[in-house]
Amino acid sequence: MNQFLTGRSFYVFTYGCQMNEHDSERIVGMLEACGAHRTDVFEDSEIVIFMTCCVREAADVRLRGQVNSIKNVPLPRTSELKKRVVCIGGCIGQRDGQQLIDDMHHVDVVFGTQNIERLPYLINGVLSRGGHIAEVQEESDTFSTDLPSKREHDWAAWLPITVGCNNFCTYCIVPYVRGRERSRAIESVVADAQALVAEGVQEITLLGQNVNSYGRDLYGEPRFADVLKGVAATGVPRLRFATSHPKDLTDEVIEAFGTLGNLMPALHLPVQSGSDAILKRMHRSYTVEHYLGLIDKLRAACPDISLSTDIIVGFPGETEEDFQATYDLVEKVGYSQVFTFIYSPREGTPAAKMKDDTPRSVIQERFERLVQMVQDKAYEQNQRFADRTLDVLVEGVSQRNDSIIAGRSPHNAMVHAPIPEGKTIEQLKGTIIPVHVDEAKTWYLSGTVVE
Ligand code: SAH
Ligand code: SF4
Ligand code: F3S
Repeated sequence: MNQFLTGRSFYVFTYGCQMNEHDSERIVGMLEACGAHRTDVFEDSEIVIFMTCCVREAADVRLRGQVNSIKNVPLPRTSELKKRVVCIGGCIGQRDGQQLIDDMHHVDVVFGTQNIERLPYLINGVLSRGGHIAEVQEESDTFSTDLPSKREHDWAAWLPITVGCNNFCTYCIVPYVRGRERSRAIESVVADAQALVAEGVQEITLLGQNVNSYGRDLYGEPRFADVLKGVAATGVPRLRFATSHPKDLTDEVIEAFGTLGNLMPALHLPVQSGSDAILKRMHRSYTVEHYLGLIDKLRAACPDISLSTDIIVGFPGETEEDFQATYDLVEKVGYSQVFTFIYSPREGTPAAKMKDDTPRSVIQERFERLVQMVQDKAYEQNQRFADRTLDVLVEGVSQRNDSIIAGRSPHNAMVHAPIPEGKTIEQLKGTIIPVHVDEAKTWYLSGTVVE
């Protein structure tokens, strides 16, 4: 059916969040099932797919530059095609559709977040008949999870439990490009987890824009705690989840950090701001007091838990007092990691129409002040691991030195250690090994493998 894909080579560029990473794994799985093969470098490919993100303006603008920059890169010598097939998918594909082809004539296929299963047919059509096609769908009734997949790593798997988002935080474009929240049945999530464990997967990360509201659409009430228990019972060595909205984090889920041995002691709990006035204008539906209450309960349930968060600096109308409240919150909580973003207006969202008169230079200065505090706190948090022996899931080698193992502790801290004599990284990859931490730095722990 997709015979024009057989024998073709392709390359995928993936930007944005884990949802896109997971969708890219599905795309690789589908195209390989059609007889195409993935290449390690873009230049060797006859088909290129961009999985795009528009959550902030920078990524959005960069995409067009990147798509244009590949225009004149020649096809591999062995190819008899007239031109490389250029496809754009993900969130910009969903938002801009046909406009991308109108603006960039070398783009052949545009698809969205709701119809990734159509990609092989669309490429096949272009290969057989030529021309361009943009096909975007409002809402989907299938789950990309039901498609074939080729995991990036044998030992780690993303497992989506919901897609879409109903929260409409006023700054955020995600609900417009990912559609309404839909949950997968608990039985199929657990069955997938069982299959992954049988394949030897060491770590499962449950995915959703707000995993805490899982099940509301299907069961009339959130049932995330049940999913956690069901997946934990498969015996997967490491279980994580992302992302949690503070307004929906229940006591039952908090307690799971103390009771489920394979639920890793790390939680990403985006706060966005430390000012109640800003949280209200963001439509986040919680107060700082409520958030700090959650942190207390989490630390009571699991004293060793590592916390991370997302923060937006420079939301419209942010005053010095609002910012100071955010700064104080970061100091108080003591996060292991904070992803800091400068507010970026997104067309079509309510915040884009809010009055915004804080000078850019003031926002930049606040941002830098915050980053300094984030670093100080990350360093401080990491000190508690010095001289401890941690189980490390080996991911590969350090970017700067290929004789150094890079892996993750249960707390999701990056750990470096020299490859022990007589071992190769290929033997160690995807295994969990004990590492003694000799020194704790800001962004990683440096240690020695215990043999
Ligand atoms: N669903 C997740 C992640 C959403 S996007 C959640 O709710 O946490 C990831 C992060 O990008 C957000 O947490 C937010 O901090 C940031 N973000 C989203 N829209 C943004 C915007 N318009 N400008 C700057 N940062 C933004
Ligand atoms: Fe965006 Fe808010 Fe939904 Fe997260 S919860 S994806 S920040 S609208
Ligand atoms: Fe970006 Fe889309 Fe994810 S906008 S953050 S790739 S849902």
